[in-house]
Amino acid sequence: MFIGHIALPNRLFAAPMAGVTDRPFRQLCKRLGAGYAVSEMVTSRKDLWTSLKTSRRANHDGEVAPIAVQIAGTDAQMMAEAAVYNIDRGAQIIDINMGCPAKKVCNKWAGSALMQDEPLALEIVQAVVAACAPRNVPVTLKMRTGWCDTERNALRIARAAEDAGVAMVTVHGRTREQGYKGHAEYDTVAAVKAALRIPVCANGDIDSPEKAREVLARTGADAIMIGRAAQGRPWIFREIGHFLATGEQLAPPATLQAKAWLLEHLNDHYALYGEYAGVRSARKHIGWAVRALPDGEAFRARMNRLESCDEQVRAVGDWFDALADEHPLLPRAAAANDALIEPVDADASIPPSEQQA
Ligand SMILES: Cc1cc2nc3c(=O)[nH]c(=O)nc-3n(C[C@H](O)[C@H](O)[C@H](O)COP(=O)(O)O)c2cc1C
Repeated sequence: MFIGHIALPNRLFAAPMAGVTDRPFRQLCKRLGAGYAVSEMVTSRKDLWTSLKTSRRANHDGEVAPIAVQIAGTDAQMMAEAAVYNIDRGAQIIDINMGCPAKKVCNKWAGSALMQDEPLALEIVQAVVAACAPRNVPVTLKMRTGWCDTERNALRIARAAEDAGVAMVTVHGRTREQGYKGHAEYDTVAAVKAALRIPVCANGDIDSPEKAREVLARTGADAIMIGRAAQGRPWIFREIGHFLATGEQLAPPATLQAKAWLLEHLNDHYALYGEYAGVRSARKHIGWAVRALPDGEAFRARMNRLESCDEQVRAVGDWFDALADEHPLLPRAAAANDALIEPVDADASIPPSEQQA
């Protein structure tokens, strides 16, 4: 599997999720079987590039290649400049966000809202490709199936993007209007795949090895992208990889192994965010990891009151040790995608004195 000239180890991708897929989480997903992971979106607004949030998002220290950065915005020139800015900071692939109900940028809705304005969408794609091509950086596009039920224009936009030089398209099988409601549909993804020569990645509601196999078969996609199902369960990538390769289910991880991965993730997380923000923003990751495990909800409530890294690490370690006494292998947690759709913003936990625009 290639994106432009860049070879990937496999076709299992971690989806960009604002407030979730920061560098520590992407690293963990890659260690546990993801062949590729896209950053949280980085705004094209220059005035925000020095903010704590954006500078953390542009931090790729020690990240396993390829480093892929998603940019979001509504102005072609600003998007081109954002691409160059991120390439200068290590990005090897630039992804354009037309898939997420992104916040307002410059008084316009960015992300999937761009699908409503095809000329602007294309202008942005062309400007970003023109900025990236001389730097030998492939550009990818992430979108939904369309704006609304009656306006499913993914195919038209995907074709135009391919003609403009985009190296891969990812399609989330929902319209913008749907948000995260209902179920992802894969017919539009299949139509895009059938029409394009560049790789197409299918996304939406893939939460198990069986579902991964089904979506690959139904769409003919070159790759699949997993978002919510990886929250608290990043080893889903290797479970899917094993199932696709052998047709057999991988045994769940040892409980003590899951503990070790979570503690490693926490330490990496604190190193990026510092103690104050790190402890607070780590709560969601711990919550996802324990929510469907025996007594996980009660632990989550207790853990949410802890204020230091040391306390958090000790509590997580002790809780998993006790769980391991009864369950040497991690009990299978039911997928609970519905609970996971709210974008979480690490900035909410930054002390006021540190907050910037
Ligand atoms: C918390 C959260 C944040 C997200 N942030 C982004 C984002 O920054 N950029 C983007 O293109 N999509 C974003 N998405 C959409 C996901 O990348 C993905 O398309 C969607 O969740 C469907 O895949 P899934 O069913 O595997 O979760 C976000 C989704 C969630 C749940």
